[in-house]
Amino acid sequence: MDGIDIGSLVRDDAIHQSVYTDPKIFDLEVERIFRRVWIYIGHESEVKEPGDFQSLDLFGQPIVMVRQRDQSIKVLFNRCGHRGAKVVNEPCGNAHTFRCCYHGWAFKLDGALAGVPQREDYPADVDLDDPARGMPSLPRVANYRGFVFASFSPTGQSLAEWLGPATMGIDELIACSPEEKIDLSGGVHRYRYRGNWKHQFENLADTYHPNAAHDSTVDEDGMQFKRRPGSTGGRAPFYDKDGMPLVSKIGVWAFPNGHTSEGSMFSSVSQTGGVWEEYRAALAARHGAEKADDILKQKRHSLTIYPSVDILIAQHAVRIVRPIAADLTEVLVYPVRMVGAPPQVFRDIVKYLNITHSAGSFVQTDDLEAFRRCQIGQSAEGSPWCLIARGHRSDVTDNNGVMHGDRASEIGQRNQHKVWLSLMNVR
Ligand code: FES
Ligand SMILES: [Fe+2]
Repeated sequence: MDGIDIGSLVRDDAIHQSVYTDPKIFDLEVERIFRRVWIYIGHESEVKEPGDFQSLDLFGQPIVMVRQRDQSIKVLFNRCGHRGAKVVNEPCGNAHTFRCCYHGWAFKLDGALAGVPQREDYPADVDLDDPARGMPSLPRVANYRGFVFASFSPTGQSLAEWLGPATMGIDELIACSPEEKIDLSGGVHRYRYRGNWKHQFENLADTYHPNAAHDSTVDEDGMQFKRRPGSTGGRAPFYDKDGMPLVSKIGVWAFPNGHTSEGSMFSSVSQTGGVWEEYRAALAARHGAEKADDILKQKRHSLTIYPSVDILIAQHAVRIVRPIAADLTEVLVYPVRMVGAPPQVFRDIVKYLNITHSAGSFVQTDDLEAFRRCQIGQSAEGSPWCLIARGHRSDVTDNNGVMHGDRASEIGQRNQHKVWLSLMNVR
């Protein structure tokens, strides 16, 4: 890019702070990362019936996801083929056809032009059947077990290739349903923060920060996790017998294509108590007692699929991260209803997310404050490098190309920035 040497901004163990603050770099990220790779659009349970739609904005592009009459799901550019007005204005709903508010052109659920008022006034050489007069589909749309992704690029890796072994996060979340079916139509927490999208992504692989950033939760007086679903009392242990923070010992995994995962503090503790015993019985009826116990152990805190969505396995939620500008990001957190589990389990999950991940929570707000301070501090002159060196050169790779960093390694951040650099370097 004119005047910017992208390769000089990412070192093995440090990042130049301009990658968070420079609007020109943000524009290039949209072009070379977000418009090139697979982006999570939404879950099929949000559009259950033919005509159900969800509209959204992706990097300045209006988009609509819509269930078709044949049950397939399409992802369309939300643009009228007449003079370009945004057609679907509601965030969600159900429609037989989409009608543009301006001159009344109508479109079928697949985006094809369905009706033009006073059509006879167009000259014969204007082809209104040209697909360009409709609402075009994004070049590629694919679905992994109900998670709908799309790509603005007609070429590139398939969704299966892009996700690779990171599909295990989605599989583990779905396994939590006694019917192996999940539903994301139960509401959403939605908020924006004045910081770069990479702050949130790095944070999702950061087991180093909780003891400082979330001390109101994890210190001696911290009580938030007492309300973990299924808990009947007491506080989850946050330190081992030597006083070492447990969260800093759980480890981080780095998958191909920038995906990351954190271990769980609760991996050896199967959730018990109250309605969770009924839930356990429903899982055991399908899988047997041993596997039900294993599912309830939450081996993984989350699995973050670069660069658009985080599967929160421990909290039973899905978090979307949508960049808007270099210093503005939108986050949406959906509680997951595990189909076949007692209804109280979903209510517990919503309550827990209110405490941990809502805009008024005790936990996520700590992170949002840190992201804001990063954004401000990274404008300071003097020393422009941000260090991501924890555990560097002690990472271990398994046969699937998945790397593991012990303790509070910054392997996840290094993995994200390595992929960032490789995508940004391709014109
Ligand atoms: S802009 Fe949509 S009908 Fe004219
Ligand atoms: Fe955090």
